[in-house]
Amino acid sequence: MRNYLIAPSILSADFARLGEEVEKVLQAGADWIHVDVMDNHYVPNLTMGPLVCKALRNYGIKAPLDVHLMIEPVDAIIPAFVEAGASMITFHPEASKHVDRTIDLIKKLGCQVGLAFNPATRLDYLDYTLSQLDLILLMTVNPGFGGQSFIPGMIDKIKKTRALIDQSGREVYLAIDGGVSEKNIADIAKAGANVFVAGSAIFGQKDYAETIRTFREKLADL
Ligand code: DX5
Ligand code: ZN
Repeated sequence: MRNYLIAPSILSADFARLGEEVEKVLQAGADWIHVDVMDNHYVPNLTMGPLVCKALRNYGIKAPLDVHLMIEPVDAIIPAFVEAGASMITFHPEASKHVDRTIDLIKKLGCQVGLAFNPATRLDYLDYTLSQLDLILLMTVNPGFGGQSFIPGMIDKIKKTRALIDQSGREVYLAIDGGVSEKNIADIAKAGANVFVAGSAIFGQKDYAETIRTFREKLADL
């Protein structure tokens, strides 16, 4: 069995009580905390910056902070996220003028690096980058908002990405972001994913532990 990781997206958490929310979801069995950074430019929404990561670290959160940058340009603010305690930083290739340079920058600053693919973004971007990546994040909704429905055509893209990772012979996380729920998590895992980002499916429920337990049960049945 693959090692499956659950990464709740705090986009759907109660921002007025963020520290408690993160603590609670980690106690409920989450592995990583997914931080959705939006700039009202690359995507039509505005969320949080390095300050929020720093506040979570100061609050005592030790779990990996999986920072998903939906911002353009990307390079200038990366050092601030590293400084604020990011563990991995994922960006969208369309938002960087020099993708290889951005990858290099993140790695040199000591973070793990991920590349994010919008639903209609071709996997060609992996041709000359895969050997340097720690994570591939496939968006299964269009970026910008939580609570959207998983785009069914993305299952095929997950399978193709899994095949590319396996061919490379490297350990690369394959993360799925958007519309993940207890209804589709098993199909997503069967297609080859091993990291599951979920916002509304977790924070929209009262009992986070119960939801994460259900996710793990679905994954154990495979
Ligand atoms: C969307 C974000 C996602 C989002 C997922 O742009 O990248 O991480 O919060 O939310 P759900 O799980 O509600 O689709
Ligand atoms: Zn995200």
